[in-house]
Amino acid sequence: MPRTDEPFALVILGASGDLTRRKLVPALWSLYAGRTLPEPFAIIGSARSEASADEFRRRMRATVREFARVKPPSENVWDRFASALSYVPGDPADPALYAKLEAALREMEGARPGPANRLLYCATPPSLYETIIGNLGASGLARPQGGWTRIIVEKPFGRDYESARALNRQLGAVFREEQIYRIDHYLGKETVQNLLVLRFANTIFEPLWNRNHVAEVQITVAEALGVETRGTYYEEAGALRDMMQNHLLQLLCLLAMEPPVTFDAGPVHDEKNKVMHAIRPIDPRKIDEVALRGQYGPGFVEGKAVVGYRQEKGVAPDSRTDTYAALRLLVDNWRWAGVPFYLRTGKRMAKRVSEIAIRFHRTPHMIFHRDPSGVEPNELVIRIQPDEGMALTVAAKTPGPELKLGTVGLDFRYGEVFGAEPPEAYERLLLDAVHGDSTLYARADWVEHAWSLLGPVLDAWAQDSAAQPYRYEAGSWGPAEADAFISRDGGAWRKP
Ligand SMILES: NC(=O)c1ccc[n+]([C@@H]2O[C@H](COP(=O)([O-])OP(=O)(O)OC[C@H]3O[C@@H](n4cnc5c(N)ncnc54)[C@H](OP(=O)(O)O)[C@@H]3O)[C@@H](O)[C@H]2O)c1
Repeated sequence: MPRTDEPFALVILGASGDLTRRKLVPALWSLYAGRTLPEPFAIIGSARSEASADEFRRRMRATVREFARVKPPSENVWDRFASALSYVPGDPADPALYAKLEAALREMEGARPGPANRLLYCATPPSLYETIIGNLGASGLARPQGGWTRIIVEKPFGRDYESARALNRQLGAVFREEQIYRIDHYLGKETVQNLLVLRFANTIFEPLWNRNHVAEVQITVAEALGVETRGTYYEEAGALRDMMQNHLLQLLCLLAMEPPVTFDAGPVHDEKNKVMHAIRPIDPRKIDEVALRGQYGPGFVEGKAVVGYRQEKGVAPDSRTDTYAALRLLVDNWRWAGVPFYLRTGKRMAKRVSEIAIRFHRTPHMIFHRDPSGVEPNELVIRIQPDEGMALTVAAKTPGPELKLGTVGLDFRYGEVFGAEPPEAYERLLLDAVHGDSTLYARADWVEHAWSLLGPVLDAWAQDSAAQPYRYEAGSWGPAEADAFISRDGGAWRKP
């Protein structure tokens, strides 16, 4: 994206946190170093921890070295970037902080030409969102001051339908919907965007993209990591809340939606919502047919012995939290009727991989009588991470005098074809928010719908009488029961 000259100031609330350190400032730096960050810009960090502007800059420099895609090329360039960083200490619960932020913004805006464009980033624990939104409203910071004012709200956006609705209401009382950017960083990933290009900039896939040709879809988001230092947070979340409600359902919608009229926020959000409406509601009496949960025990991941979830710091020894969740969803519309969509996500799985696999029907009749065994149905696999790319499997004759069949892959790898490392998701999403493009963000109604869809599963799993999550060994592909869950339709989980 070419650089535009659009002045803006970004205020990060929660700037002493992990997200700012590992994602936000490294992404802003990489954009700046790649000459795509609009200028002139200012970045104001804020948190309760005391720090001077110089200290904040020093910390951010270390962070950029460690985490940014683009390493600082020279002191000069870094110094120019760092001169735009400042820090305003204060408690986001204290209204006085917002007066200080307003004063800092006015001083910056007064020192350069152009309108007062402001991007506010809520990067604190979600328990503070309500207070922050209230304070932004009361202080007047939410109101545009001659330019635009936007707010980015981090995940998790609520923990169920009611809390997401309440949060939407609070936001709606202070901001207009077009000012609100609910981030789902999965949507900023290059390969996720490529899914849309694959579908809507090629003609060969669209005729196949329906129930007549697709037998089954599998969406996998597997992590090799456990809960690390976030045991306490994870106890309250679990895989269904942390990953399924947002990332995996977003992927399903992008995969299943009808072509939007244009690649703009309104049409894309409308089409994604239609998919949400078409997903068959989950019958509370048949939860086990639609959903399965698991929890990792001790095991080996990438050759290293690791403890089980219940032995992790901050986790109850009798915890029932799901570290693995699988769903079988049906999209009841003309395009997808009868095609099962299998979604699974888990921690401490065999390896870190996110992919979408579309399995096509078998050939209606096999004329190669002698060796039908070697032929698998065609499969299109979109690899989201790592090793971004896609592969299509086709049947081929194996060399030799006999007519033997095998399956070969037509493989495209981003790294090999385009060379450069793809930008981080946060780079794209931050840039879009500055440009006022919310296409890759989540709209209020989508978020509420996603929570409402999963409500029966969350309720069932929260019951004291609910069965324990199935155990799986860390480093495996999930509980053995998940195999029976999928084999009811005659299928099997892929081992990516
Ligand atoms: N970390 C990630 O990679 C990641 C990824 C996706 C989404 N997120 C989301 O992004 C948000 C921030 O995550 P994080 O990992 O950066 O969290 P974090 O490391 O816990 O930091 C959050 C920030 O909030 C401030 N804070 C914490 N408790 C506070 C309190 N009681 N009152 C006022 N301020 C408080 C902290 O600074 P002070 O203590 O100095 O005030 C810190 O700057 C969360 O909603 C998280 O779910 C994070």
